[in-house]
Amino acid sequence: MTHASASASAPDNALPLDMTIFGGMGDLAMRKLLPALYMAYLHGNLPGSTRILSTGRQHIDREAYLAHVEQHSRGFIAKGNFNDKTWDGFLQLLHYVELDVQNAPDFSSLAAASRQGAERVFYLSTAPSLFTTICDKLAASNLVDANARVVLEKPLGTDLASAIEINEAVGKHFAESQIYRIDHYLGKETVQNLMVLRFGNSILEPIWRAPNISSVQITVAEEVGVGSRAGFYDGTGAMRDMVQNHLLQLLCIVAMEPPTSLSPDAVRDEKLKVLRSLRRFSLADIARDTVRGQYGHGVSGNQEVAGYLEEKNVPPDTRTETFVALRAHIDTWRWSKVPFYLRTGKRMARRSSKIVVEFANPPFPLFPGAPGGVANRLVIELQPEEAIKLQIMAKQPGSGMQMQQVALNLDLQSAFQQRRAEAYERLLIDVVRGRLTHFMRRDELEAAWEWADPIIDGWATLGEKPHPYAAGSWGPSESFALLARDGFSWVE
Ligand code: BG6
Repeated sequence: MTHASASASAPDNALPLDMTIFGGMGDLAMRKLLPALYMAYLHGNLPGSTRILSTGRQHIDREAYLAHVEQHSRGFIAKGNFNDKTWDGFLQLLHYVELDVQNAPDFSSLAAASRQGAERVFYLSTAPSLFTTICDKLAASNLVDANARVVLEKPLGTDLASAIEINEAVGKHFAESQIYRIDHYLGKETVQNLMVLRFGNSILEPIWRAPNISSVQITVAEEVGVGSRAGFYDGTGAMRDMVQNHLLQLLCIVAMEPPTSLSPDAVRDEKLKVLRSLRRFSLADIARDTVRGQYGHGVSGNQEVAGYLEEKNVPPDTRTETFVALRAHIDTWRWSKVPFYLRTGKRMARRSSKIVVEFANPPFPLFPGAPGGVANRLVIELQPEEAIKLQIMAKQPGSGMQMQQVALNLDLQSAFQQRRAEAYERLLIDVVRGRLTHFMRRDELEAAWEWADPIIDGWATLGEKPHPYAAGSWGPSESFALLARDGFSWVE
């Protein structure tokens, strides 16, 4: 590991950078943003004269802020990456700006801390209800110029109407090319690798369609529960928190047509087409093809854990879902009649995110005593480990012609021994360098809500309670039945 100094390999054409983090005392800043910026600094990926201006309502001085960062952020940097000298250098970049965005008449304190001629990045890591006010006041304080960029954290609204409202408000002051809507799944190495797998190889493309592919599964299973986030989560639920954004983005990358280039619009045009081709759910579809769940008490990681209803700050009678499984369809030539099964949940058996592409079985059963089931699968494991496995049938050694499934295993860990940057680090560097490809465009976000809204509304209309599942399990039994009905099963 080299501990490059910030200036040694910093982008040389860069103007001074002022990165303002709204919500600079918050959880995301401490757990993700500052550690990611530290890593970018460590590897020389921040311009030499970067300043990070963290805003917060608290009446504290810079020393107290740095002490807060020491206490709440430093621990999120992997030990092997931590270096005292670099950390001290990194802390030099940090400044604290006391600012109550709601009540401040203007942002003069921030304007005073910002440098003339610097490139300004504003990272909005606050409740989305504050986005409008923040952008209005930034503009009124003359902080938005042609070089400025704004990064919007999810959730971007709670439905289509609120997403449009936010987009309109931000769009009054920032051009679309200045807006970075972040979905950190697009920053994951494995997700970016999926694009290379699909479009950097020609062997997959001819078979990457119906009827060669019989189904696609996308699972994002978390072992953790709601933790201390019930205040946010209970009004949100798994559909808005995970499916509308992360899972749909994964689906887009699996299903999109080859883009004409890697330019932001070329890639985002293709993802948009997928989102617009997603079949809308009727009430009957919702009742048949979706499953909502809520975790109950159970055992996770060898420990007894509380059910969702017993978690801190969760209302006792809430019907918020912590699990969703559904069957989606993309109405295009390529994907006609291919079910896309999506599944996500908290407090599941283990952390495991994967995409499973199942291929149609050979049309004629030549070999007697075939084991049955699916012959060929491409399994793309996204986390916790990165792996790509192609399951194929092989002959069992011996005198007969018995078949057995074996995996061709692409060992990416040993093929590439380089460090893998965390999603936030990679995306923050993209923001600094002005690269928009891995961020969502306004129309993509709105198309995702257009698809998700009727499902969420439909659940309310149907008035069903979420199905209970034990913490530490793979979700409610109804989720298994959803696939079994079509002759499939989840691949764990
Ligand atoms: C966030 C959700 O966007 O993604 C969280 O708000 C979730 O609820 C998290 O835990 C999962 O991200 P990752 O990278 O840990 O899979």
